Amino acid sequence: MSDWRSAQTRQAELAEQRRATLRHELSRRMERPQRHRLLQGYPMAPVLLPAAAGFAPLSNELIDDTRPLLIGVLPHAACNPRVRGCGFCTFPHEPFDNDRVRQVVRAVAEEVTRTATQRPGLLSRRVGAVYFGGGTANLTPPAEFQRLADILEATFDLSGCEVSLEGVPRYFEIHDGALLDTLSGMEVRHRRLSLGVQTFDRAWLARMGRDAFGDVDCVQRVVDGAHGRGMTVSADLLFNLPGRSLEGSLEDVRLARDLGFDQICLYNLVLSVDVDTEWADDEELIGGMRGNDSACEMWLALRDELLASGFVQTTLTNFEHREVPEPRRFSYGSYGLDPRTWDMLGFGPSAISTLLVPAVHGGLKWMNPDTSADYLAAMRERPHPIARFFEYTPEDLELLILTRHLARLSIQTSDLEPAYAAQARVLEEAGLLHRPDPGRVAPTPRGMYFADSIAGLLAWPRVAELRRHLEQGTDYRYHMG
Ligand SMILES: C[S@@+](CC[C@H](N)C(=O)[O-])C[C@H]1O[C@@H](n2cnc3c(N)ncnc32)[C@H](O)[C@@H]1O
Ligand code: SF4
Repeated sequence: MSDWRSAQTRQAELAEQRRATLRHELSRRMERPQRHRLLQGYPMAPVLLPAAAGFAPLSNELIDDTRPLLIGVLPHAACNPRVRGCGFCTFPHEPFDNDRVRQVVRAVAEEVTRTATQRPGLLSRRVGAVYFGGGTANLTPPAEFQRLADILEATFDLSGCEVSLEGVPRYFEIHDGALLDTLSGMEVRHRRLSLGVQTFDRAWLARMGRDAFGDVDCVQRVVDGAHGRGMTVSADLLFNLPGRSLEGSLEDVRLARDLGFDQICLYNLVLSVDVDTEWADDEELIGGMRGNDSACEMWLALRDELLASGFVQTTLTNFEHREVPEPRRFSYGSYGLDPRTWDMLGFGPSAISTLLVPAVHGGLKWMNPDTSADYLAAMRERPHPIARFFEYTPEDLELLILTRHLARLSIQTSDLEPAYAAQARVLEEAGLLHRPDPGRVAPTPRGMYFADSIAGLLAWPRVAELRRHLEQGTDYRYHMG
């Protein structure tokens, strides 16, 4: 064989070996629980670095103040279900304490004004959407919520934006709907409510300690009340509850549809022994969890039901009714998956910010401290309450864009290839990705269920490298400017 031919054969063998390694890694990932980490954006918290006390990312001169903004506000971290974390919740949550909650909301308002002082350039940015979420945002005391909304409006130009308020159904009704009055009073483009419904099944709600969070009648009142105020309303539903039949989950979906929700979000329950939740210690519940193939069948059936009921799938988890006109569609959700265009600024405990810097094909991500105590301490002791941060290299930026576009169900082929061609081929062979047209790659319906594995495979070598640096204490930072 000529040298040229043997070099070519060798190259083909190496490529096949690499694909075999990728196939092996993919099947390993597909056997594990499929987490909803895509919600957080690449990279995940464990590879972020601790931020030094004086860390002040907003003074970086490369930050581009012409980019539009999304604003996520976590007014506090508290919830009050009767079972810790509703049994399953993997989001930050703390027991409700009125004084503590007031203190935290005031600190969040202070963070907004402090940020504006540190970087006045932010104030001239176009704001596309504001999201009040985290914990149970609609458990915020009305006076504090009004003050926070006033400060946000006085600081940023919100006139063109959508504002969402998240919470449990019943708390939209308390204080005579005072929080809805605040939303209605904001001079914004559109307002929406996001209800954590989880299920309508009373026995399951009781098991979650959520029986005081509102029954079907309460949900119907909140939906009708919101519509009466010109707002749109979405429901979070959990599927794959251990031991629950497909028929039970279909009933949840059909009921949500019949109640008139504009948007329905389907979340695969993340529950395994290694998550820190109440149910993780319950052998019966853990033993009742389906395997991924069976849970994927359930996902496919629920998805079909929503599509047949007039809903359009807009992201991995979001379905919006086709009759909801474009200006009333969920902007924060779709803009948040388009990091090429939108920067993200987060305020409050565990808030995440992502500011990209196209000039250097880089960017910054940072996270505020998770707990109220750490957040309040950081507000007292630091210029900016940042706990962890990450500086994107061009490769990391590619991965952020790829994984966000995966969640919005459409990846440009030119973003995936040639750099990730081997992964793309393996994912296509596994039936998880397909090419709806030559310029685009998208997850198949089965690939949507396994999106966590797809994202994990794409980011695998880079995340392994970042973890090695962290273990060895070597500096992997990409110093912008
Ligand atoms: C930040 S939570 C807030 C919702 C609100 N506090 C409530 O409980 O209604 C947003 C959603 O994440 C979903 N979620 C939380 N933990 C989850 C888990 N372990 N697996 C899947 N989805 C989960 C739930 O559907 C929840 O409504
Ligand atoms: S699901 Fe909602 S109420 Fe329950 S612990 Fe999580 S954030 Fe709190």
